[in-house]
Amino acid sequence: MSNTQITRPLFDQVMVPNYAPLNMIPVRGEGSRVWDQENNEYIDLTGGIAVNALGHAHPELVEVLTEQAKKLWHISNIFTNEPALILAQKLVDNTFAEKVFFANSGAEANEAALKLARRFAFDNYSKDKSEIIAFYQGFHGRTFFTVTVGGQASYSDGFGPKPSDITHLEYNNLDALEKAISDKTCAVILEPLQGEGGVLLIDKEFAQGVRALCDKHNALMIFDEVQTGMGRTGELFAYMGLGVTPDVLTSAKSLGAGFPIAAMLTLTKFASSLTAGTHGTTFGGNPLGCAVANKAFDLINAPAMLQGVKEKEALFRALLTEINNEFSVFSEIRGAGLLLGAALNEQYQGRAKEFLLASAEQGLLVLIAGANVIRFAPALNIHNKQIQQAMVKFREAVKAVTLKSE
Ligand SMILES: Cc1ncc(COP(=O)(O)O)c(C=O)c1O
Repeated sequence: MSNTQITRPLFDQVMVPNYAPLNMIPVRGEGSRVWDQENNEYIDLTGGIAVNALGHAHPELVEVLTEQAKKLWHISNIFTNEPALILAQKLVDNTFAEKVFFANSGAEANEAALKLARRFAFDNYSKDKSEIIAFYQGFHGRTFFTVTVGGQASYSDGFGPKPSDITHLEYNNLDALEKAISDKTCAVILEPLQGEGGVLLIDKEFAQGVRALCDKHNALMIFDEVQTGMGRTGELFAYMGLGVTPDVLTSAKSLGAGFPIAAMLTLTKFASSLTAGTHGTTFGGNPLGCAVANKAFDLINAPAMLQGVKEKEALFRALLTEINNEFSVFSEIRGAGLLLGAALNEQYQGRAKEFLLASAEQGLLVLIAGANVIRFAPALNIHNKQIQQAMVKFREAVKAVTLKSE
C-alpha cells in the first residue's frame, strides 16, 4: 500500500464506476480556492455542488468541528444530544417549522418527507390516499423511493419493481396539476428551483397555485430545498421569497456547509404521525454534524450574508452577459442568488461538458446541469474580486470552445 500511486487511474481500479471524476485530484482548499496534487490553483465555482456555502476550511467551522470532536462524536438516537437540540431550536425559531428530523443526506431527508406524507394520509384519511405528485426534471436523491419520485425515469429504470402511485407532471404547469390532483393525492413534492434539472426557476403563481390545490385536497406540500436552502437564493430558504409556506421542507447540502447533515422540517400535526419506531437513522443528528451546522447557520442567517448573495448574483449576471455579448453562446442566464445557470443556445446544444473541461484548463471549476447548462454554485461568501477573476478565466474557456467550433 505504501507504494501505491494515489492518482486518477487508481479510481478506475478500486472504485465502483458510478462516478466519472475529473483527472485532477484536489488536495486542499481555502475559501473559494482549491489546489490539486501538483499544487495547481483553481477558483471553485462548484461549491461542492452547492454544499460548501462558506468555502473551504472556514476557520470558525474548523474550530467548532475540532472542539466538538474533543467532546462527543457519536452517541446514537438512544440519546439526544446538545448540538442537535440547539440546531433544531434554531430551525424552528427561524422557519415555519415546529418539528425537525435529522438525516445525513438530501435523499434521506426526502425519503423521510415522503414516508411522513404517506403515513399521515394513512393515519388521518384512508389507505388509498397514497398518490405522490412530482415533476419532470425534478431531482430528489438516489434512494429507490426518491429517485422514482424524481422526474427522470432513466435514473430509476433497471432496478426492478419501482415504488408505485407516483405521478409526474410538467413543472410550472398549474393546469396539469389541477387536472391530476385529487383526494387520493397525499403529497406534491417540488423544488423551488430545479437545480439538477437545468436551473429552472419556479413561477411564483405556480408555487401559490400548488399551495391552494394542496389545501383543497388535503395533500402535503413538500418543498425540496436540499439545493436551494440555507441562503443559496439570497433568502434563508427559497420559500420565503415566494409567498407560500410548505407543510414539509427538506434541507441538506449547505446546512452543514460541507459536513454531511440533512433535515426534514414540518409542523407538529404532521410530525405526530412519525411516532417512536416508525422511522430513524443511526447517524442522523450526530453531534459533529450538528455542531458544524449550528455555526454555519449563524454565519449564513445574517442580513449582510444574504444581501451579499443578491449583490454577487448581479455581478455574475453582468459579467456572464458581457461574455455572451462577445461570443453569443448562451440563450439565457437563469436561476436565483448563487445558483445560476448559463443555458447554451441552439448552436452549442449538448456541449456543456466541453465548457466545464475548458474552464478546468483555465484553473476554474464549474458545474453542469444536464448537457445544455453550465451551472455555478459557489460559496456564498466568495469575494467579488474572485468572481471577476473567475469570469476572466471563464471568458478564456468560452473563447477556446468557440474557436474549436469554427
Ligand atoms: C433538490 C435536491 N434534492 C435531493 C438531492 C439529493 O441529495 P443527496 O445527494 O445529499 O442525497 C439533491 C442533490 O443534488 C438535490 O439537488
